[in-house]
Amino acid sequence: MSLWRYADRLPVEPLVTMGEGGTPLVLAEHLSELTGCEVWLKVEGANPTGSFKDRGMTVAVSAAVQEGAEVVVCASTGNTAASAAAYAARAGLRGAVIVPEGKIATGKLAQALMHGARVVALRGNFDQALAVVRELAALHPVSLVNSVNEYRIEGQKTAAFEVVDSLGEAPDVLCIPVGNAGNVTAYWRGFSELGDSPALHGYQAEGAAPLVHGAPVSQPETVASAIRIGNPARWEDAMGAFTSSRGAVRAVSDAEILDAYTLLGSREGVFCEPASAASVAGLLKHGAEGRVVCVLTGHGLKDPQTAMNRASSVVPCEPELAAVEKAVLG
Ligand code: F0G
Repeated sequence: MSLWRYADRLPVEPLVTMGEGGTPLVLAEHLSELTGCEVWLKVEGANPTGSFKDRGMTVAVSAAVQEGAEVVVCASTGNTAASAAAYAARAGLRGAVIVPEGKIATGKLAQALMHGARVVALRGNFDQALAVVRELAALHPVSLVNSVNEYRIEGQKTAAFEVVDSLGEAPDVLCIPVGNAGNVTAYWRGFSELGDSPALHGYQAEGAAPLVHGAPVSQPETVASAIRIGNPARWEDAMGAFTSSRGAVRAVSDAEILDAYTLLGSREGVFCEPASAASVAGLLKHGAEGRVVCVLTGHGLKDPQTAMNRASSVVPCEPELAAVEKAVLG
């Protein structure tokens, strides 16, 4: 069932929707054994365009349509671009996405282009792209659908509702990757509205950890391209969420992220993108107690290159039984 089952807690009507939300919450048996916690995975890659962004985008683009907007714009590290492009296409609006040149995973570029969006490759990083689209939106009648848009947060808070509905109560801890800090802000809002919140454990990549260091990072670097962000727009909200929920924001290294990414694929059967694995990397590194939900924010198919770099190689084979036997069973 889609997130619009919570329509009474959302600020607009579902004018543009594709059945987003209602994603699986999967018990992670191997991770539970490793950590001594009861670990659940919220598989957000199961959303229509492959990431949690669709939760916010269905609400933000519905609002844009209601307000009579003609153009939807965003800055993005990949997922927001694909999601905005898809919902704009469905709504019959023009979509324009600004992405850091050469830093966007193949799957997302293909998606945004297939949905007919104007894809602009900025010679700069995500933080510069966001600054410039904010200026653009202040001067022109375009609808900005980054998570600075309140409707995005409203849509994304439904993930917290789903977690509580699935488990019957809030977990003890929720582990979540943090980039521009919109999603942790949204989970906090959702749990707060229910009056039942886990401790929020946010994880940034070491080379892009402004919230951990307490200062912006001018040249953020990490293999987890989705969270390669040095100056999160939702800084204050996110820090408020960590403090109020008695949680924390911490850093994990690229090596730890990639180990968790590989473990999720090979042991839990869940293929997520590297940034998503930061939540599990953080749990493995820092531990937790009780019932834990790790948010896996996006699908692994976004970034086939990182997967191919990590995985073992394919086995060449002649078309004969003996060769196939050796290749399969040997
Ligand atoms: N995980 C994935 C897969 C993401 O795409 C993002 C953000 C995050 C985590 C972090 O969420 O920004 O709300 O703290 N991606 C944005 C984008 C920035 O452009 O797609 P956040």
